[in-house]
Amino acid sequence: MTLAVPAIPAHHAADFPRRDRQALLRIENLVVEYHVHGNIVHAVSGVSLEVLPGETLGLVGESGCGKSTLGRAVLQLVRPTSGRVLFEGKDLAEMRGGPLRLLRRRLQLIFQDPIASLNPRRRIGDIVAEPLIIAGIGKAERQRRVREVLGAVGLDPDLTMGRLPHEFSGGQCQRISIARALVLEPQLLICDEPVSALDVLIRAQILNLIETMKARYGLTLLFIAHDLAVVKAVSDRVAVMYLGKIVEVGATQALFRFPAHPYTSVLLEAIPLPDPSIAPPENVPVGEPPSPIAPPSGCRFRTRCPRATELCAAEEPPLRELAPGRFVACHYPLIATPDPLIATPAPCDASAAGAKEADRTRATQ
Ligand SMILES: Nc1ncnc2c1ncn2[C@@H]1O[C@H](COP(=O)(O)OP(=O)(O)OP(=O)(O)O)[C@@H](O)[C@H]1O
Ligand code: SF4
Ligand SMILES: [Mg+2]
Repeated sequence: MTLAVPAIPAHHAADFPRRDRQALLRIENLVVEYHVHGNIVHAVSGVSLEVLPGETLGLVGESGCGKSTLGRAVLQLVRPTSGRVLFEGKDLAEMRGGPLRLLRRRLQLIFQDPIASLNPRRRIGDIVAEPLIIAGIGKAERQRRVREVLGAVGLDPDLTMGRLPHEFSGGQCQRISIARALVLEPQLLICDEPVSALDVLIRAQILNLIETMKARYGLTLLFIAHDLAVVKAVSDRVAVMYLGKIVEVGATQALFRFPAHPYTSVLLEAIPLPDPSIAPPENVPVGEPPSPIAPPSGCRFRTRCPRATELCAAEEPPLRELAPGRFVACHYPLIATPDPLIATPAPCDASAAGAKEADRTRATQ
């Protein structure tokens, strides 16, 4: 079967990649399986990814595709079945006890539900100070750091430290969670759906806060969300996940403009448009994704893919590099040219930063 592959206009060939840096986090062939009532849930199936220092890598995919499991497996909160998680070259999956706890201080996680993630019986000052107590930091220094980080996230320490979580709104609780995650000055922050439980007006504030904290603390982010508009607004690069596998990775603006994987394309088409006069998309896959207990043979997306052929059922497409920094796992990608447009720009690229800011506003309107 021959499929039409559109050419990409040459005038879009703007941003070249700058892959001259060592990855801060390198995930190699990571597998996570859960054993449930005699069944195996294939939550993460051979994921390989790199997160470069200073960038925000967005991880997007439908509910249940394995995003949180991947984030937790990086931190070893869920132990991988196999594979490696290299942080500055050290394999966390092989570490245990004290050395793991020591290294894990440099990787922190923000959860989806800010209220549930804070102990309701502890005062905010104690919640934020807890990582410092575990790290053996003395009382005076703890006080200083807690006050400083609460101020950094926009909360008045004098009005905050003595109160309990239920006295705060969802947005304020997320600020407190961010303060707790930052108090040990980590290098890598994993944000697991940090705004999806918040109402629309608060989302923009928290996204802007995360961006400000990233600059202030020199953070690298792995930003997990199922909302593409939010991912677009914060990410330098995006990894698209489907049923436990990464199907596409690329620079945000290029990937959104020219998706190479059919799943990325239908995800983008499924973003609701504010104009009711515009007809809904035709290409959106029907039904629910297959069960991760019995994923389809070959390409896992084939049961919902409008382009599937017999080859897709017989052979799993490997994740291959179409152009520098643009990876896709598909036998028939939607773009086939090694055009530099689909490559990865430097995360600090000024035009990309401007585009992200505009997207943050749009994502929360
Ligand atoms: N502790 C667990 N035990 C058994 N199965 C689990 C466990 N945690 C997750 N799963 C299953 O693993 C798969 C991946 O779940 P995961 O929570 O990682 O997905 P997700 O992409 O984060 O979804 P969401 O967008 O809804 O948060 C799902 O099928 C889920 O039901
Ligand atoms: S490999 Fe085949 S089934 Fe899978 S996304 Fe590509 S065209 Fe669709
Ligand atoms: Mg999740």
